[in-house]
Amino acid sequence: MERLQKAIAEAGVTSRRKAEQFILAGKVKVNGKVIQELGYKVDEKDRIEVEGVPITKEKKVYFLLNKPREMISSVSDEKHRKTVVDLIPCKERIYPVGRLDYDTTGVLLLTNDGEFANILMHPSKEVEKVYIAKIKGILKGEAIKELKQGVLVDGQKVKAERVKVRKIDPKKNTSMVEISIHEGKNHQVKKMFESVGYEVLKLKRERISFFDLTGLKSGEYRPLTPKEIAKVFALKKKEKKHEK
Ligand code: URA
Repeated sequence: MERLQKAIAEAGVTSRRKAEQFILAGKVKVNGKVIQELGYKVDEKDRIEVEGVPITKEKKVYFLLNKPREMISSVSDEKHRKTVVDLIPCKERIYPVGRLDYDTTGVLLLTNDGEFANILMHPSKEVEKVYIAKIKGILKGEAIKELKQGVLVDGQKVKAERVKVRKIDPKKNTSMVEISIHEGKNHQVKKMFESVGYEVLKLKRERISFFDLTGLKSGEYRPLTPKEIAKVFALKKKEKKHEK
């Protein structure tokens, strides 16, 4: 059973907020009866109509994209610039699972399955996100320690699970650093480095959990395999067992 507005949004008809407006305006029928209650529960057997048009459930789709630089990771842009969604031609209303900055490259998952997105994004699931940051300066041991112990980002303490210097270039005065985090706050990696006194010059997400960029050039994408999708849902089951 799910809420009526969620069922409408998941069918790809409109956003959840607009679905709520349709319901309140008396434009939604369930099994032939007008329903104006927002929390009304429906299941697959219920026949839902929006402005007289029956809705059919949208097929769930899942993609892995190697996001190029200079591209927005949202569904639409007010300045009508290209977004990551434009790179994947499909009729379903997909959206990115979390965001990468305009100038950040690498692993980006896209789907129309809210539950799948939530498993990967929710901090309680502790899904690992691995980034490679090119930073200005030679990263000092003290800064690594601070990043691992936790630093303040937008008033909240966040920490790196792992920090490893992969390469340093003393001539150019830069370091390539691997950093692994669990949360997905806006500009988190850049802000974490900033808080310990370093500027991020380039950023790439190399991995989310077991999803990496193998076989994908910049701008290329592939559908996820049924096995990969099942593995993500298995992360949720593990969590439930912990709760018992
Ligand atoms: N952290 C950032 O600072 N930027 C991103 O795009 C992703 C994580």
